[in-house]
Amino acid sequence: MNNFSQKIISWYEVSGRKNLPWQVEDPYKIWLSEIMLQQTQVKTVIPYFENFTSKFPNIESLAKTSLDDVLSLWSGLGYYSRAKNIHKTAIILEKDFNCSLPDTLEDLMTLPGIGFSTAGAILSLGFKKPGVILDGNVKRVLLRMSGNKSPMNQYKTEKSLKEFAKILLPSTKHKQYSQGLMDLGATICKPKNPECNMCPVVIDCSANEKEIQNEIPVKINKIEKKEKIIEWVLIKTKTEVLLKRNKESGIWQNLWLLPEKKILSLKKIINLDPIEEDFPSFVHQLSHKKLLISLKIYTIKNKDRLPINRSLFNWVNISDSVNMGVPKPVKEILNKI
Ligand code: ADE
Repeated sequence: MNNFSQKIISWYEVSGRKNLPWQVEDPYKIWLSEIMLQQTQVKTVIPYFENFTSKFPNIESLAKTSLDDVLSLWSGLGYYSRAKNIHKTAIILEKDFNCSLPDTLEDLMTLPGIGFSTAGAILSLGFKKPGVILDGNVKRVLLRMSGNKSPMNQYKTEKSLKEFAKILLPSTKHKQYSQGLMDLGATICKPKNPECNMCPVVIDCSANEKEIQNEIPVKINKIEKKEKIIEWVLIKTKTEVLLKRNKESGIWQNLWLLPEKKILSLKKIINLDPIEEDFPSFVHQLSHKKLLISLKIYTIKNKDRLPINRSLFNWVNISDSVNMGVPKPVKEILNKI
């Protein structure tokens, strides 16, 4: 085995993370955690993972449930295409893979939401087979090791990192190696002020030798996010709130949203009492957009006098509403009323 991977494995055995809830011998749970961890931090994922696996302990239970139930448990975690993909994948696994995850890179990569790195994580952590993980932490470690100043997340850089990562793979202890490399990135080789004096591979590190560790990874300037103004209305009775199923394609497709302000002018809505104090406007950041959200709150005594399209709108009990498939800003509003 090469010297680098041996050092990572020995370091993992002493200093790596061993109590994460997905560190179990169950490829299903490892797959689920890897999808959740794709764009979300460990500490945010933990409660979602625990809730999700207690409701859906295996592939059968996930394949049999409705997309609405999956979206409701995903509510607030963001990037909802991940939830749709895990539901689709569970159905494929039930139909074509005998309710289990396949253990080859080729088969794994045919499944929705599983790319090269997630497949590598499932192979190494779930099946103890060789597999390359290239999450943000690992990319940073490898770029610093090789003193590579090419911009991160560029196709060319990704390609060369992939090749470099493949060469470094150990011949055994694949699980410890993968987890060790991620943990080294998360706890020692941090984005700012890495603790190089604690690093098990410092003598192999080109960035450390040249003292350029704080200059790597190089990121190209992000394109400025577009702003979008959203004006919602929250119409409620004493116990219920009006929600609208979002049929538009995009990141919130099929989730429940608040109605837009324009419904007030489209229909002759009467008997609405505005609440004097409006909800303060706020900003919600998406990966590609900045949403400027404002909200007006109304109460209505008799909801039957509000003309609504029943196929899109639904009156929902206020306490149940937060448990539906709603995106984070809607959840925050509903939690506050
Ligand atoms: N990020 C991606 N996969 C991870 C894992 N298994 N543990 C911690 N962080 C991760």
